[in-house]
Amino acid sequence: MESSSKPREGFSSGLAVFFAALGSAVGLGNIWKFPYLTGSNGGGAFLFVYFICILFVGIPVLLCEWYIGRRTRRNAIGAFETLKPGTPWKGIGFMGVLSAYLIMFYYTCVAGWVYFYCFKAFTGAFAAVTASSAGELFGQVIGVGTAGQSFFSKEVLSPIFWQVIVLCVVGTGISMGVRAGIERITKTLMPLLFILIIICDIRALTLPGAGQGIHFLFHVDFSKITPAVMLSALGLAFFKLSLAMGIMITYGSYFTEDVHMFKTAGKVALSDTLVSMLAGLAIFPTVFSFGMEPTAGPGLLFMTIPLVFSKMPLGTLLLAAFFLLTSFAATTALLSLMEVPVAFWSEEFNVSRKKATFLNCLFIGLVGITATLSVDSSSLLGGIKFFGDGFFDFYDHLSANIIMPLGGFLIAVFVGYFIKKDDIQYELSNHGTLCNESYISFFSFVVRYVSPALLIIIFLNTIGVIAF
Ligand code: PHE
Repeated sequence: MESSSKPREGFSSGLAVFFAALGSAVGLGNIWKFPYLTGSNGGGAFLFVYFICILFVGIPVLLCEWYIGRRTRRNAIGAFETLKPGTPWKGIGFMGVLSAYLIMFYYTCVAGWVYFYCFKAFTGAFAAVTASSAGELFGQVIGVGTAGQSFFSKEVLSPIFWQVIVLCVVGTGISMGVRAGIERITKTLMPLLFILIIICDIRALTLPGAGQGIHFLFHVDFSKITPAVMLSALGLAFFKLSLAMGIMITYGSYFTEDVHMFKTAGKVALSDTLVSMLAGLAIFPTVFSFGMEPTAGPGLLFMTIPLVFSKMPLGTLLLAAFFLLTSFAATTALLSLMEVPVAFWSEEFNVSRKKATFLNCLFIGLVGITATLSVDSSSLLGGIKFFGDGFFDFYDHLSANIIMPLGGFLIAVFVGYFIKKDDIQYELSNHGTLCNESYISFFSFVVRYVSPALLIIIFLNTIGVIAF
C-alpha cells in the first residue's frame, strides 16, 4: 500500500499545468452553454460583460484556489487544515468535495450519452437521420419512455452501460497518476481537440449562408445586457473555470514552483473562451445554413447537431470528429473532478491511489445510476422528487445554484480577510522571484471587496431572495 510519506506527485512543467487546468475548464459548457448564451444575449456585448466577470470574479477566485493548493500541497480539505488547523474553514473543502461528487453523478451520465453518440457517429448511424428520427434516437439513448419496463431491459441498461464505460476510462486515467495519467492525457487531448474543432470550423464557415451564424454569435447589442444577463455571465464564468469544486485547489497543489499563476490564469481563461467561440463557429453557421433555429443544452448537442451535420458533404466524418472532440472535453473535465475525492481519500486515509480510484468510481457509478434513471418524468425513477426536482436535476441544481456560489464567496472571504497579505504575496510571487506587485495589489483589492459582493448577489438571486 502506498503511504502518504511517499514524495507527492505533481505536474512536470508550466505547459503541463496549463493543459491540465484548461482540460478542466473545457467541458460540455463550451459546447452547449457558452455559444448559445453569447449569441442570444447580445453577442459581442455579452462577451465584454463575460470578460469583466472573468477579471473581477473568475480569475481572482481561481488564484485564491491555486494559492491554497500550492501553498499547502494538500488535497481540497487537508489544505484548509494546514492553513487554519482545527477551524471550521475545512467546511469549504468539504463543500468542494461534495459538489465534485454531485456533478459527477450526472456528468458521467451525460458523458455516457456523448460516448454513445461518438460511437454511433463513427459507425455512420446518422447518415439518414431526419428531424423525427433524431428525437427518437435521443429518447432511446437516454432511455426515456421506459416506464413500466424492468431495470434489466435493454433500453434501461444501455445508458448505464455507457456511464460505466465513462467511469472506466476516467478511473483508468486517474489511477495512472498525476503525471502519467492527468498530465499525459490532457497534454494529448487538448491540442487534438483544437485541431478537430478547427476542421469542423473550416467546413461550417464555407457553407452557404454561414454569415448568419457568425452574425448570431458576434453581433454587438448592448441593449440585451440586463442585470439578469450579467448574472448569467457571472455564473458562467464561475462554472467555466471549474471553481468552488475543490478542483483548482487540488490541481494547484500539483503546480511547479515556477508557474506564473497570474499569466497562467489569464491564458486558461482566454483559451477556454476561444474554444467556446470556435465551437460556436462550428455549430451556428451550420444550424443557420440548414434553416434551423439555434437552441441550447441537450437538444442542441444531441438532436440539432446530428441533424444538420449529417446533411452537409462529408457530414458523417465531421459528425464523428465533433462528437470525438466533445468526448475529449467531457473526459478531461471529469478527470479533474475525479481527482478531487481521490486525492482526498488517498492522502487523508492512507489508501492507495488505485484503491481510492476504484472505490470512488464504484460509489459514483452506483449513485450516478439514479441520475441516469431520472432524466425524464417517464424514466424508471422519474417520479421521485426532491424539492420538485428528480435526482438528475437535484444533483445539478444543488451544486450549481447553492454550493458553488456560496463556496466561491467563502473562498474569497477566507483568502481576502483571514490570510496574511505577506503570505499571499510570498506564494503568488513564487517566493519573491517574480516582480508582480501591481498584480498582487489588484488581486487583494478585488478579492476583498469585489468578488465576495458579486458572488453573494448571485447566491441571493438564485435562492430567490433578490430578483432582477
Ligand atoms: N468547466 C467545465 C465546463 O465548462 C465545468 C465542469 C468542470 C463541469 C468539471 C464538470 C466538471 O463544462
